[in-house]
Amino acid sequence: MNAYRLLPFLFLWCFAKTNAQSWYHPELKALGAPELAPFEFGVASGDPLPDAVVIWTKLFLDTDKPQSVTWEMATDSLLHQVVQSGEQATYRNSAFTVKVDVRGLTPGTTYYYRFGHGGKYSPVGRTRTASQNAELLRLAVVSCADYQNGYFNAFGHIAKRNDLDAVLHLGDYIYEGGVWRGGPRKMMRNRVREHVPDKTCTELVDYRTRYGQYRLDPQLREAHRMHPFIVIWDDHEIANNATVDGPERATADWETRKATAKQAYFEWMPIRENPERSIVRSFSFGNLAELWMLDGRLEGRSKQAVGFDDPSLNSPDRHMLGTQQTDWLLNGMAASKAKWQIIGNQVIFSQLNDSKVFDRRPSVRLDRWDGYPAERQSIFDFIYKNNLKNIVVVTGDVHTSWAFELTGNPDDPNVYDPKTGKGVVGAEFVTPSVTSFNFDDVVPRFITVEAKRRFKKRKNNPHLRYLDLNHHGYLTVTLTQEQAQADWFFVKRKDQVDDRVKNRASRRILADGKQVEKAKRGVR
Ligand SMILES: [Fe+2]
Repeated sequence: MNAYRLLPFLFLWCFAKTNAQSWYHPELKALGAPELAPFEFGVASGDPLPDAVVIWTKLFLDTDKPQSVTWEMATDSLLHQVVQSGEQATYRNSAFTVKVDVRGLTPGTTYYYRFGHGGKYSPVGRTRTASQNAELLRLAVVSCADYQNGYFNAFGHIAKRNDLDAVLHLGDYIYEGGVWRGGPRKMMRNRVREHVPDKTCTELVDYRTRYGQYRLDPQLREAHRMHPFIVIWDDHEIANNATVDGPERATADWETRKATAKQAYFEWMPIRENPERSIVRSFSFGNLAELWMLDGRLEGRSKQAVGFDDPSLNSPDRHMLGTQQTDWLLNGMAASKAKWQIIGNQVIFSQLNDSKVFDRRPSVRLDRWDGYPAERQSIFDFIYKNNLKNIVVVTGDVHTSWAFELTGNPDDPNVYDPKTGKGVVGAEFVTPSVTSFNFDDVVPRFITVEAKRRFKKRKNNPHLRYLDLNHHGYLTVTLTQEQAQADWFFVKRKDQVDDRVKNRASRRILADGKQVEKAKRGVR
């Protein structure tokens, strides 16, 4: 055969080779555990309904050809009592991720599942459908896991628990930046490992590699294997301080970047597929609780105000959720027959007066609901008008631990009385970061002590009922017909793999109650 005739084949071969390796950066391969191949990223499950749950895995293969994966789901961990099974194709265009929405299951039931490919099997995962008549519901709440800033000991502890119905992840599942270089010395000392790729994620291959790196962390992988996750993104899954119209720093072609980040998120998370790739959805736990997961970033959020003197700050045209999402939430809560309305939300919902703490950092405050006061007020107006109560907002984003009494205006005695609890419609509980920097990672101890004192001053924040600025870990929220209790679990350290935690604080609000109060510590 003439050598020139070989050229097209040579070209195709080279093209296929390049393509085959182009859905992740090659340095990811070195981080994988070969004994799990091709299931190095483990298994995951999520979005539990009474009769359905999503199960997930990914093949780590260098190929362009479609692959077939088998799956089975059973009521026992040895997979003797298989109740559902099937086979699913997976393709290069989804980076060989596999997601199955397993239907026809029984409410409030623990299931075990695994995947198979080419004679090899994944680890066996455990999951649970949403209970409809349970006396107790317990959710772990996490956010802000920066891979570079410590080991995922909070996930390690969560993985070992057998008393959780699900894990709520409120965002910053990944951080999109490259390897930290420079920055305060105290911060640099916290860097225990480095991001791949060593660049800010902008392309699909970058985001896929970053999710891959996080999912190769053994503690995060194990938490996914042992519990269903219900996830929402915050900003770092896309870009810092993302909004509908753009992030904090201008980026070329924002629409493309947003779509790319969303694609990677939906590939990697055990979230139920939908054509819009929306994360706004609700979950029913019978007459005990309704869970509302919100998108305060990409669905309807207007750009952050420039400062507190920005004339547009109080405009009703500025939105955190947008009209459609707000209506869906409020009408849904008003129609719900469940005792508790749990709202999974990215940023602090309560009014937080930090003007006496951070005199020169308004941007921190304007990213929260404090930067979108008109929409928040419209939500409180609806809540009061319709006499809604027993609302529990759970929040991430700030890397620190807080409890608030939920009220329309903490500074107006006509609306709220901290002594009697007049005007209280529920509680907000804020989870600390898994690892992302908080006060003691960045500033000397005396500054933290002073900041805490100022935050807690009654005249600054009369509705604040708990605050910790230093620890990392997670939160559990335990619901019964009688009360909603928050337990904060703090890790001992994050510079080494060590999943010991301590239940350092607990707060509760009674059903139809008016005050957030100290509670007996929960389970350890
Ligand atoms: Fe964060």
